[in-house]
Amino acid sequence: MKDVRAGSEGQCQRKRVFIRTYGCQMNVYDSDRMADVLRPLGYALADTPEQADLVVLNTCHIREHASEKVYSELGRLRDTKAERRAAGGDLTIAVAGCVAQAEGEEIARRQPAVDIVVGPQAYHRLPELLAEAERKLAILRAGKRLPGAGVLDTEFPAESKFDHLPSPQGVRAGSAFLSIQEGCDKFCTFCVVPYTRGAEYSRPVSAVLAEARQLVAAGAIELTLLGQNVNAYHGEAPDGATWSLARLIRELAEIEGVARLRYTTSHPRDMDDDLIRAHGEVPQLMPYLHLPVQSGSDRILEAMNRRHGRALFLDIVDRLRSVRPDLALSSDFIVGFPGESDADFDDTMRLIDQVGFASAFSFKYSRRPGTPGATLQDQVPESVKSARLAALQALLGRQAREFNASKVGATVPVLFAESGRKPGQIIGKTPWLQSVYAEGNPRLIGHVVDVRLIEGHPNSLAGEIVTGSYGVAA
Ligand code: 5AD
Ligand code: SF4
Repeated sequence: MKDVRAGSEGQCQRKRVFIRTYGCQMNVYDSDRMADVLRPLGYALADTPEQADLVVLNTCHIREHASEKVYSELGRLRDTKAERRAAGGDLTIAVAGCVAQAEGEEIARRQPAVDIVVGPQAYHRLPELLAEAERKLAILRAGKRLPGAGVLDTEFPAESKFDHLPSPQGVRAGSAFLSIQEGCDKFCTFCVVPYTRGAEYSRPVSAVLAEARQLVAAGAIELTLLGQNVNAYHGEAPDGATWSLARLIRELAEIEGVARLRYTTSHPRDMDDDLIRAHGEVPQLMPYLHLPVQSGSDRILEAMNRRHGRALFLDIVDRLRSVRPDLALSSDFIVGFPGESDADFDDTMRLIDQVGFASAFSFKYSRRPGTPGATLQDQVPESVKSARLAALQALLGRQAREFNASKVGATVPVLFAESGRKPGQIIGKTPWLQSVYAEGNPRLIGHVVDVRLIEGHPNSLAGEIVTGSYGVAA
């Protein structure tokens, strides 16, 4: 969970918004863009909900736990709103993101203090929604104290939000997200994304290139291309041709100032030959790939409707490593999908052993209403899921530690992104997306600097800046 916080700008502006982000990097991107939409209305970013006139919860619906967190946060905000109103003030509460999309009416019913519910495809309309909420509230204020305005927009509008969003503002520390694709047509049987984010849509090439150039002009040297199914990208180019992700990556690499390119999240089925070749040919494409496999059992992959088996995944890994031997892999795993037997789970453990992952995300299967998986017989008991998850995470944790340890002693380029908690410490990322802590001047933030890695930990590495690798004294 990440919060979009105030920069130093906007101290003199009248209104403040606090945006809390749950879930994936698409949501982090959307939160930044919501801030861009609200800025012209006079909203500066607040550091806490207490300082804000408007609180936006940008929500995640992927697992039950993620969406339940939203309702507890809304309970706290309702209390703040009540206190404000008692003191003659107010607080506007908006719910955005995938819970908004999936449970719009339900949110309004479960938490009447909510003013605005806006889906991920409609947030460019926030100005109109705020105005409508304001109008409704003016009427309500004459009466009872608590209800919110209850304005709802969860349409998938015919016009693309991308055509209506202002240019992105503010690049944080040299690294920027760039959304190029949204939605998903794959319909894995466990997943809500095709329902919350809608059908697959690729932004046109010219729009992506224009946004990339703006981000670079604003200080980005690393671009992470985002999409629920980013390697299914098929954007229309100005000459009418359709560009694949590989073609787009090759073009982005030509933009002066682009030092690093990444993309996430991919589907194994869409790892085409050209994209695999690009990993060997485009130097800016970082040697790290998040490629969710979910399970190592053919039976379960089939039941999940993943549209590929274990062999295809292993073949892709081999081909990637043959063109880019230092490629580090990350993945997503689900344990306890309905019908998963001990033998199926063993297949997953064997796949992990065989591939060797640098990092991974792993989850217990969460039954999501409306998905085909929810109606399957043979749901796996919670205790079995817990035991499998613990075993899987122990193995993946060991592999992550081994991967970090394997880099100790090497000197690697690190893109510094933020100050650490300890004074004088700065934190950055290696090409393999490992976090590195080093003593260094905060002026190095936003730059790539050579760092000698001296100590490996489960989730990070300690390093020493190689003096002279950058023109600013460390
Ligand atoms: N239960 C558990 N994990 C899920 N994911 C998606 N849906 C579910 C679910 N119903 C996981 C998948 C996906 C990641 C983003 O979240 O592993 O790749
Ligand atoms: Fe969900 Fe599957 Fe689409 Fe990924 S590919 S977003 S897991 S439906």
